[in-house]
Amino acid sequence: MSVSPSASAPSADPATGSAPAAPTQADLLDFVRRTAADAELIASLPLDPEGRTWVHLDGPGGSEAWLIGWPPGTGTGWHDHAESIGAFLTAVGELKENSFAARLPTDGWKTLELTEGVDRERRLPAGRGRSFGQHHVHEVLNESTERHAVSVHAYYPPLPQIRRYSRSGQVLRLEQVERPEDWQ
Ligand SMILES: [Fe+2]
Repeated sequence: MSVSPSASAPSADPATGSAPAAPTQADLLDFVRRTAADAELIASLPLDPEGRTWVHLDGPGGSEAWLIGWPPGTGTGWHDHAESIGAFLTAVGELKENSFAARLPTDGWKTLELTEGVDRERRLPAGRGRSFGQHHVHEVLNESTERHAVSVHAYYPPLPQIRRYSRSGQVLRLEQVERPEDWQ
């Protein structure tokens, strides 16, 4: 490979392959699938009947990954991961994801009225997952009354922001923007 010293070159050289490629949605989904198949790792997650539990993992290509335990009846509330793409997959039990068929405007609004019929839900039993692009608004729930769920999640870039929303009927309201320093 060679590096051009010319500052005026309008484009970088995409052919060198020298920089590690950013992981794609498919890479993240592949990672969470392989990780969920590691029975020993999944069994190592401490489970707490009172609340969710987390173990941090190193994801591929500098991504951020988590193993999460969900007691019956717990969920995330509506949120997105701003500019990050991601993937998650259920390893144990079953999760439900609520999301929207429409792409929402990313910025510049505090409340947004959703059109009728825009809601989508998908059930993710063990072994099923999904990937998502930037600004994907969703909530994830363990609706079981008896059974813990465990899932694997990966995000790239590592989570810069989480935007949290409340929902009343068809109205979505931005409530809070959490940054990494808020999670310390
Ligand atoms: Fe999420």
